[in-house]
Amino acid sequence: MFFKLTDEQIMIQTMAREFSRKVLAATASERDRTKEFPAENLKKMGDLGLLGMTVPFEYEGSGADTVSYALALSEIAYSCASTAVIMSVHNSIVCESIYRLGTEAQKEQLLKPLATGNIIGAFAMTEPHAGSDPVRQSASAVRDGDNYILNGTKRFITSGRNAGLIIVTAVTDETMRHKGISAFVVKKETPGLIVGNDEDKMGLRASDTTDLIFKDCRVPVEDVLGEEGDGFKIAMQALDSGRIGIAAQSVGVAQAAFDAAVKYAKNRAQFGQLISKFQGLRWIIADMATEIEAARQMTLSAAAMKDRGEKYTAQASMAKLFASEMVNRVTAKALQMHGGYGFIKDYPVERFYRDARVFTIYEGTSEIQRVVISNHILKDKRRP
Ligand code: CAA
Repeated sequence: MFFKLTDEQIMIQTMAREFSRKVLAATASERDRTKEFPAENLKKMGDLGLLGMTVPFEYEGSGADTVSYALALSEIAYSCASTAVIMSVHNSIVCESIYRLGTEAQKEQLLKPLATGNIIGAFAMTEPHAGSDPVRQSASAVRDGDNYILNGTKRFITSGRNAGLIIVTAVTDETMRHKGISAFVVKKETPGLIVGNDEDKMGLRASDTTDLIFKDCRVPVEDVLGEEGDGFKIAMQALDSGRIGIAAQSVGVAQAAFDAAVKYAKNRAQFGQLISKFQGLRWIIADMATEIEAARQMTLSAAAMKDRGEKYTAQASMAKLFASEMVNRVTAKALQMHGGYGFIKDYPVERFYRDARVFTIYEGTSEIQRVVISNHILKDKRRP
């Protein structure tokens, strides 16, 4: 490891590992089958301080740093990637944005129930026709006295059905491009907010992904997050942090697939010897281990930059790009090493392979990460 973890970071990692392997692992494959939202486990995670990790103590959070958060998220993803994505959006995008930009009243009112896990947070920016290009979103928010009236449809919203609070972006001034987008904190029970279609997904099946439909949904002006017109920047900053989360999640799933593959190779005999004796497989194991370690270092390095208050947009995108592509390679190799057994549901590697597939897509596709990274390189005035 390039830098040494502190005692506190190791303690948080160990606590998350024990919870993940003792509690989450037991029912992860059942949840994958039934698509049951892990409500009870999330309550326990709230009690353990895993749902307000970077929120300060004064708002009932854990006051942990981003490195600790990334370590914990990898551990949760190791056993249940569905639970990990709920945790990731909730912590990195929702809690952090409210802590960073909320008014004192918003922080007092919202952070405690979020950090303790009494409510789960969601983030609604994507629309049916605005995914990679959220500037062209069409949901609108029109001021009417002390309220804004929201109309539009948001798509692919993680925890859309089960969240108690949603950060929603909408256009308040269509002449202003990204500066005409604002962010709102909308409580689930608000009239005019309707949960639409639940997606039937290939992976992450215990994490609900839904449409959210806003029909003349009245949101008080006090529930604007930041200033009117700040919504796009708030979303981009939230995604910088979120991308560290997806990288951490990728590392966790890759480690789980790797451990399963190594265990299998050490127990499976063919041609009169354990398959782990074949050089062909040993080289694959070495490559997998090397890629996972590289992704882990990139993820923790981006997290440490964030903790030091440095600009980390490009490094978060690099970590997300590399780790999410790595986990797709690693889970495919792990499945291949299992032979026919990799293709059946008796072995968890099949679920890891399906769960990993979306990591190169959500919170910005690999192609968008390359846009972000190349923009940073080409706009850097210090370069010749
Ligand atoms: N931090 C702060 N500000 C930022 C920023 C960042 N990381 N990135 C951009 N901005 C600012 C720019 O500085 C600029 O502001 P100014 O005009 O004041 O200078 C403004 O935002 C517009 O920037 P761009 O011109 O670069 O914007 P763009 O339209 O070209 O798009 C993009 C940039 C990177 C492609 C962006 O649209 C993007 O990230 N797209 C992907 C969207 C995405 O990740 N969606 C995921 C949905 S959420 C999800 O998946 C969560 C889940 O549920 C799991």
